[in-house]
Amino acid sequence: MSRKSVLIRPAKGIAGSVRLPGDKSISHRYAMLGGIAEGTTKLDNFSTGADCASTLGCIRSLGVNWERDGASVVIHGQGRSLRRPGAPLDCGNSGSTIRMLSGILAGQEFVTELTGDESLSRRPMARIIKPLQMMGANFESQEGGRPPLKLTGAKLKAIDYQLPVASAQVKTSILFGGLYAEGTTRVEEPIQTRDHGELALQAFGARVDRRMREVSIEGGQQLQGIEATVPGDISSAAFFLCAAGLFSGSELVIPGLLLNPTRARLLDFLVGLGLRVTMSDLQEQHGELVGSLQVEGGVLKGATIAGGDTAALIDEIPVLAAIAPYTTDGIEIRDARELRVKESDRIASVSTNLRAMGAEIEEFDDGLRIPGGQKLRGARLDSFGDHRIAMAFAVAALRAEGETEISGADAAVISYPEFFNTLESLVQR
Ligand code: S3P
Repeated sequence: MSRKSVLIRPAKGIAGSVRLPGDKSISHRYAMLGGIAEGTTKLDNFSTGADCASTLGCIRSLGVNWERDGASVVIHGQGRSLRRPGAPLDCGNSGSTIRMLSGILAGQEFVTELTGDESLSRRPMARIIKPLQMMGANFESQEGGRPPLKLTGAKLKAIDYQLPVASAQVKTSILFGGLYAEGTTRVEEPIQTRDHGELALQAFGARVDRRMREVSIEGGQQLQGIEATVPGDISSAAFFLCAAGLFSGSELVIPGLLLNPTRARLLDFLVGLGLRVTMSDLQEQHGELVGSLQVEGGVLKGATIAGGDTAALIDEIPVLAAIAPYTTDGIEIRDARELRVKESDRIASVSTNLRAMGAEIEEFDDGLRIPGGQKLRGARLDSFGDHRIAMAFAVAALRAEGETEISGADAAVISYPEFFNTLESLVQR
């Protein structure tokens, strides 16, 4: 990837209305299930990020035809059996693609090689390899269970599996494998994670049994294509919500936003910090809760993020940490060791950039303590090739003294290519 820089100037407020591109987690799942469904799947407001384009590229190599016109994607389902790809599948930067697609590929009776970029090649895959091997697939991986992976699919058998790490990607991968397994596959998670895999399977017509932290699916079910509008991505909205929180008097409207309770902990958290949020137009679309938000900035207090909250806010922690110095009481983040194996080591990336802006912070193995009431100065920062770090520090830079240059800011294309333009359109100076 090229390494383009952006310059962010301080702002006085945030105002306006923004509709977010489709949620990344849902776009991946709908694309994959659309590929193995019978019939056509029509998706509007599909994620514009490069990660979901990686998923579309992979399913095309597996024999699934699709057409795309901007944010509209029409997928011609191939049914349960995909075609052996002629070359390794390139998953790019996308952990979701490699992990969740592996569940489907485990049930295909051919060999697939899965590769990705340098960041993906450092990420742990043993968490999917172990359960999918128990189901009957075979994997060859690099040292420590890293990609590239060579996956030999098989006739799968159902398993009962307790996830050692709270991970929606792993849960979804096993459930997708479960579609191909003989018998009923059961997954139990230590903490409830986002449930888009379960909801997407149900939307495509599968029977899924759900109770508390336990999900099971009977193998052999056939999916049917759907028509859907993907709700706006709440993890992308987090950047604007936090930006609005930095300035009292800010006013922001976000229509058509994903408000699934397993993702919307962010809103409870921000309201607890001091943001004023009103929801309206609530609707259910294919089991997903969608609505409009009206947001007013105020004074942000402080909070601790730990335990189940950490899992629920896992993608939003970079931006919450980036605004923490501007809160009155600071933010402490614990139980977040997972952040060290995301697109970058997000604990280290956040610490390095906050320190470069002059912030005082304390770093732990599993988190950060960031005191409040601090004044930051503009600085030269790095995205560390990580989309959420690039966007988080564009937000922090809005309240710093002086300009901030973020190199490698084009990493934002991974989840939200329009981010910097949209931010500029909302910022008041
Ligand atoms: C995702 C789950 C999370 C999240 C990722 C998307 C998903 O990862 O960080 O951005 O769509 O299931 P883990 O499940 O590995 O925590």
